[in-house]
Amino acid sequence: MCGIFGYCNYLVEKSRGDVIDTLVEGLQRLEYRGYDSTGIAIDGDEPDSTLIYKQIGKVKALEKEIEEHHPNREVTFVTHCGIAHTRWATHGEPVQINCHPQRSDRHNEFVIVHNGIITNFRELKQLLLNKGYTFESETDTECIAKLFKHMYDTNLKNGVELDFHDLTKQVLLELEGSYGLLCRSAHYPNEVIATRKGSPLLIGVKSERKLKVDFVDVEFPDTDDVQPDIPLNSARTEDRNLLPIAANESALRRSQSRAFLSEDGAPNPVEFFVSSDAASVIKHTKKVLFLEDDDIAHIYDGELHIHRSRREMGASAIRSIQTLEMELAQIMKGPYKHFMQKEIFEQPESTLNTMRGRIDFENNTVMLGGLKSWLPIIRRTRRLIMIACGTSYHSCLATRAIFEELSEIPVSVELASDFLDRKTPVFRDDVCVFVSQSGETADTMLALKYCLERGALTVGIVNNVGSSISRVTHCGVHINAGPEIGVASTKAYTSQYIALVMLALSLSDDKVSRVERRKEIIQGLKEIPEQIKQVLKMEPRIKELCETELRDKRSLLLLGRGYQFASALEGALKIKEISYMHSEGVLAGELKHGVLALVDENLPIIAFGTRDSLFPKVVSSIEQVTARKGRPIIICNENDDLWSKRASQSNLVTLEVPLTVDCLQGLLNIIPLQLTSYWLAVNKGIDVDFPRNLAKSVTVE
Ligand code: UD1
Ligand code: F6R
Repeated sequence: MCGIFGYCNYLVEKSRGDVIDTLVEGLQRLEYRGYDSTGIAIDGDEPDSTLIYKQIGKVKALEKEIEEHHPNREVTFVTHCGIAHTRWATHGEPVQINCHPQRSDRHNEFVIVHNGIITNFRELKQLLLNKGYTFESETDTECIAKLFKHMYDTNLKNGVELDFHDLTKQVLLELEGSYGLLCRSAHYPNEVIATRKGSPLLIGVKSERKLKVDFVDVEFPDTDDVQPDIPLNSARTEDRNLLPIAANESALRRSQSRAFLSEDGAPNPVEFFVSSDAASVIKHTKKVLFLEDDDIAHIYDGELHIHRSRREMGASAIRSIQTLEMELAQIMKGPYKHFMQKEIFEQPESTLNTMRGRIDFENNTVMLGGLKSWLPIIRRTRRLIMIACGTSYHSCLATRAIFEELSEIPVSVELASDFLDRKTPVFRDDVCVFVSQSGETADTMLALKYCLERGALTVGIVNNVGSSISRVTHCGVHINAGPEIGVASTKAYTSQYIALVMLALSLSDDKVSRVERRKEIIQGLKEIPEQIKQVLKMEPRIKELCETELRDKRSLLLLGRGYQFASALEGALKIKEISYMHSEGVLAGELKHGVLALVDENLPIIAFGTRDSLFPKVVSSIEQVTARKGRPIIICNENDDLWSKRASQSNLVTLEVPLTVDCLQGLLNIIPLQLTSYWLAVNKGIDVDFPRNLAKSVTVE
């Protein structure tokens, strides 16, 4: 996701070239998180001027952009504050104007880099528009920069000159949502503000001299300071006056920070590295301080001050400066060995993010912002064609039945390459849904162009905002799973699945006959993130199975029926691509038509035996396997008597997952298979994140 990096040097002479290189290298360290554009802001040649460079694409493209502007790299700064950002688009496409830093005005009076989402940005933007501000980007961040300027100008008009951190307090009162942000300003040269709420931020400290104490005091407003209850929340009331902070706060009041005092009182040369991620700081220093929510860190004159708007009972009055013992690779992957494992474990959060702001669990309603105005047209279609490749194709298969049941529209699911090979007839009144994690897959993109040429309505279900498919489709839904780095698609599958279920729910919200079923599904979705968390606890058990039952096997069959056929195909794909073991997903009903010939005591089989209306048929298929000495591993629901009895009688292995609504069960059933493919591969010593012959984004036919 987005990344923040800031570099401040104090009494440590650096050329502009050094500053640029430090910022650019800081961004490179954040690359692994995924991003689509970058930018930096540094001091210009004129006093109090700011240079902003930004570019879409990789950090290399930013370096080129900077080079093309020929900034004088030789000029030196004894003290300087630069800020930088990698952006993963959420508000507005990845185009240059939307890259961060965002600015308050064309003179760059306030310049911001921001991670997170300001949820009341529309209201703030409207208020600022009403006050005559004009906006150049589609980002929520630009509002923050403009708000800084607006507050600053209003205070100044009232004769109040605030410290940078007091101005920040006023601005933050207006913001709703989450943020990690850095702000620099022409009005506060060589100062930087770093503040966070729900988005991580840490500050690395590098000093030749030993710090006096290994903590920084938190500074609260003096008790006798009248912190006015500034009625600024412009988002809620239009006509609020932007009042200045109390006059006694106006005098520049600066305390000294104990950690940065030198023995002789002389100023200490020091460098600060602010980042959303320790990965970009660790090269420079291991001494770091983690900011807490609502902390306002103010760096100036070689000191770091941490302010809070109010004193809370029991809150710590210091932030300790810790020594990081971690290595770079460890930081990037957190406690996980590979990105694939990390992404599997992110699913409780990523599935929640897919639903966030879209499902109202109290009123059992779904609102997909990107489809709102298109739904009436989609509902009228005579058929719906879902088109995708690989894992994305499986998410279409997994949700096809619920689409048909809820919408009563015939649905076909197509592999993009085959759809094109067949020159499938497509008509003006067709609705074609394109599902893609990357949004760049060549076959899917070609199929999209083919459908556009024939006048069909095209809908995207895409993870990458600003990707080709997301831009070219008429409308769509971003699955908001966050960047997926491991080549094997894991969290994108569960998020696509949920996005498609939400689409099916939206299509049927005018049907009275579907009210109860819809309610059941919506309440089922509410539980999914917690239930995934529960399934993930199974990892040690699966790891053991991979080291015993499944060790050194050449082939593995996956049996599923109905909703679980897609799970069987997706599980088999994961195992093939990551562990290089042959694996096949088989429709349980097809066993007797050929596949049964393969079954004996040596062939490992995993069967989906979770409860739904097809359960008796699945049981009978599994009996056909056990009758031929097969000993399948059964993925079943917790406390299912039938399987517990059989497990104890015939020594069957079971993996128990929680029970959910039939059409959502695949979201839970796939997790043990993701983990199985992962551990099979790790046991073979395969580089799970980069399996041979495969690329993350398949941009060739
Ligand atoms: C949007 C914002 C989100 C914000 C929310 C607040 C974007 C990208 N998303 O989310 O940050 O929190 O409003 O209300 O700005 N689209 C396509 N094809 C696709 C995917 C999407 O055309 O494959 C279009 C949609 O029709 C829509 C736009 O892209 O016009 C954004 O889609 P989406 O992010 O799903 O919309 P919201 O959930 O409303
Ligand atoms: C499998 C996998 C691929 C992709 C396929 C489509 O783990 O990642 O099968 O699902 O290449 O890619 P997207 O979804 O980016 O269109």
